[in-house]
Amino acid sequence: MDLYDCIHKRRDTRHFTKDEVPEEVLLKALDAAHAAPSVGLTEPWRFLIVKSQEKKRDIKALFDDSNKRAKLGINNDKQHKLYSSLKLEAIEETPLGIALFCDHGMLEGFTIGTIGNSSTLEWSCACAVQNLWLSLTEQGYGAGWVSIMDYEKFEGLFDVPDTWQSLGYMCVGKPATDYGGEPMLQKENWKRRSEKPYIEYV
Ligand SMILES: Cc1cc2nc3c(=O)[nH]c(=O)nc-3n(C[C@H](O)[C@H](O)[C@H](O)COP(=O)(O)O)c2cc1C
Repeated sequence: MDLYDCIHKRRDTRHFTKDEVPEEVLLKALDAAHAAPSVGLTEPWRFLIVKSQEKKRDIKALFDDSNKRAKLGINNDKQHKLYSSLKLEAIEETPLGIALFCDHGMLEGFTIGTIGNSSTLEWSCACAVQNLWLSLTEQGYGAGWVSIMDYEKFEGLFDVPDTWQSLGYMCVGKPATDYGGEPMLQKENWKRRSEKPYIEYV
């Protein structure tokens, strides 16, 4: 697939078929993730592959809890109805998931580019996730990022070092739809993609 096709075809997917994700597809995507740029070559991304239904149930419970609170916070009736109709995860339906973490332990000692700004570690992880997402797209698979959850409780579901900070969870599988080639949130009239990126020459 052409790079630009891949960039434009990548979707945040919440509707999947029951197809398994072959090991070689996953490994290729993780390899692409690991080729991402990172501040000071820290490579702070950490991926935990989740296959057990029990763990997925625990993650889904965290999503349900946060989603319920999100709904309670909407006092506009129309917006509440629309938000409630949106499917914003596929945790239990996807054959596997990837718990995303950023290892702040990589900051021990001096490293290039992080002085005064440790968030550059998280940005590095975002670069890796985008590579992972594009690789899955190129291979005919897809992913949906779930961030609607209490990250501290999420970290508590895994036996990870204290230096690992959660960045959410990717549901991974074979997309059942491409939402007509547009973001699902646009298709469902939640929000429209803007026409152009903001650019100004100064
Ligand atoms: C950091 C991050 C967190 C996100 N969290 C969620 C989420 O919890 N649930 C959800 O349905 N979509 C989530 N999304 C997906 C966005 O809504 C989606 O990327 C956006 O609507 C554009 O659609 P597209 O990715 O298909 O182009 C998240 C995306 C990012 C980058």
